[in-house]
Amino acid sequence: MTTRELKEKYLKFFEEKRHKIISGSSLIPENDPTALFISAGMHPLVPYLLGQKHPSGDKLVNVQKCIRTTDIEKVGNDTHLTFFEMLGNWGLGSYWKKEAIEMSWEFLIDKKWLGLDKDKISVSCFEGDDEVPKDVKSAKIWQSVGIPKEKIVFLSKDDNFWGPAGKTGPCGPCTEMFYDGVEIWNDVFMEYNKTGEGKYEPLKQKNVDTGMGVERTVAVLNGKKSVFDVEPLKSIVALIKRMATDYDERSARIIADHLRAATFILGDEKGIAPSNLERGYVVRKLIRRAIEFGREIGISKDYAFTIIIAERVIDLMKDDYPELLKNKDFILEQLTQEEEKFNKIDAEAEKIFDDYMKKNGITPMRVVDPRKETYIANPLITKDIATALFKLHSSRGLSMSTIRRLAREKSFVLDEAELEEELEECFKEHVSRSAISAGKFKSGLADNSEQVTKLHTATHLLLAALRKVLGDHVYQKGSNITAERLRLDFSHSEKMTQEQIKKVEDAVNEIITRDLPVNCYEVSLKKAKEIGAMGVFESKYGDKVKVYSIGMSDCPFSCEICAGPHIKKTGELGRFRILKEEASSAGVRRIKAVLE
Ligand code: SER
Repeated sequence: MTTRELKEKYLKFFEEKRHKIISGSSLIPENDPTALFISAGMHPLVPYLLGQKHPSGDKLVNVQKCIRTTDIEKVGNDTHLTFFEMLGNWGLGSYWKKEAIEMSWEFLIDKKWLGLDKDKISVSCFEGDDEVPKDVKSAKIWQSVGIPKEKIVFLSKDDNFWGPAGKTGPCGPCTEMFYDGVEIWNDVFMEYNKTGEGKYEPLKQKNVDTGMGVERTVAVLNGKKSVFDVEPLKSIVALIKRMATDYDERSARIIADHLRAATFILGDEKGIAPSNLERGYVVRKLIRRAIEFGREIGISKDYAFTIIIAERVIDLMKDDYPELLKNKDFILEQLTQEEEKFNKIDAEAEKIFDDYMKKNGITPMRVVDPRKETYIANPLITKDIATALFKLHSSRGLSMSTIRRLAREKSFVLDEAELEEELEECFKEHVSRSAISAGKFKSGLADNSEQVTKLHTATHLLLAALRKVLGDHVYQKGSNITAERLRLDFSHSEKMTQEQIKKVEDAVNEIITRDLPVNCYEVSLKKAKEIGAMGVFESKYGDKVKVYSIGMSDCPFSCEICAGPHIKKTGELGRFRILKEEASSAGVRRIKAVLE
């Protein structure tokens, strides 16, 4: 069965069950500042899950293109993808567990539809916890349709609870279906709304949200182990194989996945260009990561291979996604530019190694197979090199994997720990020495006078105060600091009232008066997420990020991923005053403020 056939069957089945086929949405969420991309079919339907009437009715079905970057490190295995298509049917307060499970079962086993072997199907249900009870009902329904008790497992919230798609919104326990041990379908019973405070409130209506990953299911239906063994990914991997001189399956899969995802993001109805921020950053990272893996497996620089792959993706998927064809020029143009940029940075980094070798009279040694790490003793990465590399790394995004590859190619003995340490040193010096470059990392600082540093700390306090007064939908959209004032753009759609402005000022000034220490520590990206640090979740190198927090350690007033610099104690700030609050762009407000 092809992906096309599966999609057609699914839509037809649910149409027969009186569902209306609706079209999929753009990959870019509408009105959801908490998420960069649509990550599930239910995501664009959130307003309707919350109770708004959908124009097509209360039973819907569709195919939705999705991007999930949370599992990017797993891509390359048999099941994970950054871009995928998802089938889904929804009952918006119109049917519940019994109907949903019975329809799923019929679609899976009936000969007219998928005709799967009953004996190979198993399911999981939610085991319950303090907040949400055990889903005994679903398990009973599964038994009634014919799943034996021993093939029903109960799992925790990590596995059997879905949502919300952003930080808040509809969610609920789910029941998952496995074929031959592979998860293929998920029926979510959305009866809760998760609030900004982390509470689960009952929703106005009980919704069914199901999701079936197209690629995964087609693989299983065809008896294939991997999503890369079915079309369209199979042809893309084969094409990569033909271009590589030192082929490696995992790398080829990563390239196929990343460039397909990049093609879809660039070619989306709301096309996103590569940049250093948010969505643009994600697409840039996908492209650069793909190119780096391409170099690893010996794809020549002369190929401009990203556009060859993108053209193939467009060709294979344009019938279902005409926007790809429409935006083809933009996709190819952006990829060409990114690949050129990559090559330029790569050449500069290579020159750093070469110059160093020349200067120190080191002749390049022949390395039989650098990938097998059979090095002939050669120089260690020294501080000189680290400093130069770091510059490229911080200003132009030279990646650690490129550094590793070049070091291998030049037969440098790469002591990872030592290199990280050297880079770390550079990082520290760099951050305190020059706030100008620090601005390039994140926050738009204009010079490093003491006043700028103070205003930078004040910006953190302002953002935290805005979130406290206006709500958790407030995120930083931009920041620019001069020696005179700070300017913060943030997500919020209405004009602030005088009272809100006053409350925000008071909250900031209270923290200043309390003279709290500004704590800085370095943690893994994962840890930073866990403790709820705000900021762009990109690591500067390795996996470590700097987190600045102000206030109690277990429940800080402000906690942000940031390159710094900051002042030591809030008492140094003086008095904070908001000069102006105005619209910046749609859904974004701008505040200018000073320290007096
Ligand atoms: N939202 C659920 C999922 O993505 C079901 O559609 O798995």
